[in-house]
Amino acid sequence: MPEPAQNDRLREEFNRWAEAGRGEGMEHDHLPIVLPVLDRLSLAPTDNILDVGCGAGWLARLLAEQVPEGRVVGIDISDQMIRRARRKHSELDNVMFAVGEAEEIPWDANFFDRVISVESAYYWPDPRRALREIFRVLIEGGSAWLLINYYLDNPHAHQWAEALTVPAHLLSADDWSAMFRESGFAGVQHARIPDPTPAPETYQGRWFRDAAQLRAFREQGALLVHGAKPRL
Ligand SMILES: C[S@@+](CC[C@H](N)C(=O)[O-])C[C@H]1O[C@@H](n2cnc3c(N)ncnc32)[C@H](O)[C@@H]1O
Repeated sequence: MPEPAQNDRLREEFNRWAEAGRGEGMEHDHLPIVLPVLDRLSLAPTDNILDVGCGAGWLARLLAEQVPEGRVVGIDISDQMIRRARRKHSELDNVMFAVGEAEEIPWDANFFDRVISVESAYYWPDPRRALREIFRVLIEGGSAWLLINYYLDNPHAHQWAEALTVPAHLLSADDWSAMFRESGFAGVQHARIPDPTPAPETYQGRWFRDAAQLRAFREQGALLVHGAKPRL
């Protein structure tokens, strides 16, 4: 179980991101790697979906369009992200947002058809516990989908460790897959999702050394890990 101090630190950091408007900004950055994953989810209109670490809720909005007879729930450790997500999406009647931790999901067991999480899992203080929680809230035959850009097999993101102000796990595709299997998931697979966005001529941000590194990072792509809760 994560120390309360670890969670406080995450909450404070991502509340700062929310207040700076970065929750909404992530739609632009993450959409190119999320769209191919949405295609793979094979959603039915009645599906119930959980988005763990939902940020400002843009993905919940996209998912809600695909499950008009189901429900989308977004949870996030940052109360400020959730406040903004609720404010922005109050007109959607099949979406709700709740403050909650991946390690203790505030929902009943055996409810969701799909669980998705984008660019959040490497921050979870106890990813093993979080995966067991995701397994718990899935129905039998449901599946979990984690998409992350910070992982061991893509060296072009390793420098993020110095730029991030909260701890993050630098794990390989095999490490994540093993954790899925240890949590009970079957049919565990992983894939790379390249980002086709053309890199700019020059780069002056703080996440990459230069435009060439940003290009290489996008070519290597995000890591997608997924698995299913077996039917008994
Ligand atoms: C980089 S942002 C990504 C947000 C969103 N998925 C997106 O793509 O725009 C990471 C999010 O994960 C959330 N987060 C980090 N650790 C968490 C945890 N243990 N439980 C729930 N949410 C967490 C943060 O508050 C933040 O909103």
